[in-house]
Amino acid sequence: MCGIVGYVGERNIESVLLVGLERLSYRGYDSSGIATLSDGELSYWKTPGKIWELEKVLQNMNVQGTVGIGHTRWSTHGEPNEVNAHPQVNTVKKIAVVHNGIIENFQALRQKLIAEGYLFRSQTDSEVIVHLIARYLQDDLLEAVERTLLDLEGTYAFAVIAEADPDRIIACRKGSPLIIGLGKNENFISSDINAIIQHTKEIVYMDDLDIAILNKSQVEFKKLGGAVYAKPSHQITWDAESADKSGYDHYMLKEIFEQPTVVRNIISNIVKGDQIQFDDLRISNEDLNRTTRFIIQACGTSWHAGLVAKYMIERYARMLTEVDISSEFRYRQMISGINDIVVAISQSGETADTLACIREAKSKFFKVLSFVNVRGSTIDRESDGVIHTLAGPEVGVDSTKNYVARVITLCLFTLYLAQLRWTVSPDQIKEMLADLKKIPDYIDQILAQKDKVKAIADRYYKKREFLFIGRGVNYPSALEGALKLKEISYIHATGYAAGELKHGPIALIDENLPVVCIAPHCSTYDKMMSNIQEVRARKGKTIVIATEGDAEIEAYADDIIWIPNTSEDLTPILTVIPMQLLSYYIAVNLECDVDQPRNLAKSVTVE
Ligand code: AGP
Repeated sequence: MCGIVGYVGERNIESVLLVGLERLSYRGYDSSGIATLSDGELSYWKTPGKIWELEKVLQNMNVQGTVGIGHTRWSTHGEPNEVNAHPQVNTVKKIAVVHNGIIENFQALRQKLIAEGYLFRSQTDSEVIVHLIARYLQDDLLEAVERTLLDLEGTYAFAVIAEADPDRIIACRKGSPLIIGLGKNENFISSDINAIIQHTKEIVYMDDLDIAILNKSQVEFKKLGGAVYAKPSHQITWDAESADKSGYDHYMLKEIFEQPTVVRNIISNIVKGDQIQFDDLRISNEDLNRTTRFIIQACGTSWHAGLVAKYMIERYARMLTEVDISSEFRYRQMISGINDIVVAISQSGETADTLACIREAKSKFFKVLSFVNVRGSTIDRESDGVIHTLAGPEVGVDSTKNYVARVITLCLFTLYLAQLRWTVSPDQIKEMLADLKKIPDYIDQILAQKDKVKAIADRYYKKREFLFIGRGVNYPSALEGALKLKEISYIHATGYAAGELKHGPIALIDENLPVVCIAPHCSTYDKMMSNIQEVRARKGKTIVIATEGDAEIEAYADDIIWIPNTSEDLTPILTVIPMQLLSYYIAVNLECDVDQPRNLAKSVTVE
């Protein structure tokens, strides 16, 4: 899940490519490089490490040219070092390729090419692409690329430039995301809009097996082996500033503090009076009403939001709901019902495991409804119906505002179903919408306790293990809290259903183990109290998230963070905020790279 960018035009090519790579670096950040064509001559530079390492390399270079491509890497094949960084070039260094994806048959292709005398420098799967293009190149780069595509198996978004075709970039896509940015007398390619939004808001989404041929004045599209055809362009509605840090130290902190605005925006877009409206639902009320089962597919934080949705949909809409980790869905021998709907949840809309699920589901004639944040993403475009989660661009790898946005839109979808099926009275719907409208202020109240959470982080950041426990709709909150801490502090944190403690994990508890206990006032409160006392009995340190004014629980807490009182099913939206802040401050104390944690990437586009 690398990031690729490309440019044809008259701007300073070094800055267009470097700024683009910086903005794509949440997709992978272990090495990077660029290649340019200037007066028909190819030059390239690459280095291990973050984009600023590449900037340092280029400082003393005279980067020229009107055509260029760039890459920031998340290694799948070959360790992060200079030779494995992209661009990958051919033996005589006259062709350069940047690639995102996995070429599954690269070993066989590599053996064949080596036998034919091609010199391989790297351990990457991607290098086979440039040697195949060199092998097929006579006098037409496009033809060589098309012949190469016939040999490749797997997923790819790649761009190629060559001295043999000095004014053009050729870009191809199958499985991995790629967009084209249209400009005046200039054009762009990119893995996502973030890298080029400051230059253009008019973009074209590439579909599988699309080929784009870019020069300064135009972009042509064709299907592999097909004729040139026109593709519609789309206008992006948000601006580059919303993808900046706005004065915060980290994107993650900015995105945590954006949550009240995000929730207000979602409610004002979806709730009209007492009516709930979804613009792109595209699945009829009749189909929803006769749905026998929702089969939710998601990964990581999206999976946690799916688990919360299960509790809500079964409780209020009285509809059977199952939740799978996307990468495990394919191993189920699905007993499909004709009225089942597969629901995909994905912030990026590009997660390969979840994308593979919806393609599998569609091949079995399931209807697919997706909850997606990134408009125009592959999951957005390939689903039968979509509910956009409206959180705006999220750059911090540790997803925060998007979790809350997903839980809120899933909650609104639940109320929409309940309205449709009359499983909840109109008065109750009104009441829950009223509770929902208070959430932004409640989040503000919790964020106001940030110094208190920071003090707790200062006390525990040296601990190497944490437990998170919760019950019912807050069991997923425990999983989410643990994931937030793991991702950015590298502390071994685990989330458990609190009732599971005594079946094993309780053995871990002693005076060195902090246990975050999610215990708001609701139907699970009494049982959570017993679990907290079980932890205390073994000298575990309890960090309790409780409903403000709960004097009883205070006696059992080493540290306590208050959340305002709200209805049970909305508590996961509030209980996650203190855990986001706690993870953030612990990671800052440990001097971890909060926005670009090791070994991770924002959207996981490989399976
Ligand atoms: C969350 O903080 C992680 N970055 C990760 O678990 C993420 O939720 C997962 O990769 C799914 O991504 P998606 O929502 O874009 O599909």
